[in-house]
Amino acid sequence: MARNQKDFFYYKAKDEGYRSRAAYKLQQINIKHNVIIPDSTVVDLGAAPGGWLQAAKELSGGRVVGVDLQKIKPIEGVDTIKGDITKEATLEKIEEIIGEHGADTVICDAAPNLSGNWNLDHARSIDLSYSALDVAKKLLIPGGNFVVKVFQGDLFKELLDEIKRNFVYVKSFTPKASRKQSAEIYVIAKKFITTSIEKGQEYDIEILDIGEKGDGIAKIDDLVIFVKHGRISQHVRVCIREVHPNFAFADIIEPVK
Ligand SMILES: C[S@@+](CC[C@H](N)C(=O)[O-])C[C@H]1O[C@@H](n2cnc3c(N)ncnc32)[C@H](O)[C@@H]1O
Repeated sequence: MARNQKDFFYYKAKDEGYRSRAAYKLQQINIKHNVIIPDSTVVDLGAAPGGWLQAAKELSGGRVVGVDLQKIKPIEGVDTIKGDITKEATLEKIEEIIGEHGADTVICDAAPNLSGNWNLDHARSIDLSYSALDVAKKLLIPGGNFVVKVFQGDLFKELLDEIKRNFVYVKSFTPKASRKQSAEIYVIAKKFITTSIEKGQEYDIEILDIGEKGDGIAKIDDLVIFVKHGRISQHVRVCIREVHPNFAFADIIEPVK
C-alpha cells in the first residue's frame, strides 16, 4: 500500500509536469488551510527542484520567490535564489526581490541531508525550522501565514510552542501525498502577530471609546484592545484574553484608582 501511494503521486507529478510529488502536498495543505491566496507574495525556503514553486505560482499568481542551496532551474514568473536560509546574506537577497511590502506567506519544505540517525536528523530538521521561522518573522506582513516541515521527535513541542507565540492559529497537518512511512509533519501557522503583547498579560488602561458591539476600546502601543463591559473614561486593569495581528480582546480585572 505504501508503495502504491508512493508510485501514485510520483507518476501523477510526471504526468502533470510537476518537478516533484511534493507539489501535491502544498496543494493539499492549501485546500485544507488556505495559506496562499490569489495575488499574494510567497517565499519558498528549501525550494529545489521546484514542485512547491510551481504549485505556489498557480495558487497565488503573484510574486513567488524560491531559495535553495541547490540551483533551481528557471520557472516562468518565479524568482529564484541560490543560498542558505540560515545566512543573513540570503535574507537580504530575498528582501531585495520582494521589496517593502514583505511576504504574505512563507513556506518551508527544507530538509537536512539525512544521516539515518533518527535523533540527529530530527535535531537538524528542528534547527532548520527555527531558521525558517526567523526568516518568516523578518519577512511576513502582520497577519501573514507560515508553513514549515518538521521531522517529528522530542523537540517538536518546543518548536510548536514558539510558533504559537507568534501566530494566532497553529495546527499540525500531514497531507495525503506524504509517504505513509515518513516522519514528516507540516506546521500550519496563520495570522502572524507583530505586537509584543501576549495572552495573560495585565495592563492598566483607559477606555477611549465604545465599539459597535458595545465593548470598550483602548489602545496599547497602537494595538486596539476590545475590553468586555468597558465604559468610556474608565481606568481599569485588564487581562489580555486573545491576541490577533491588529487587535486584542481583554477582560477587566479591577478599577484603577
Ligand atoms: C524536500 S526538498 C524540497 C522540495 C521542494 N519543496 C519541491 O517541491 O520541489 C528539500 C530542500 O531543502 C534544501 N535545503 C536544506 N537545507 C537548506 C538550507 N540551509 N538553505 C536552503 N535550502 C536548504 C535542500 O537543498 C533540498 O533541495
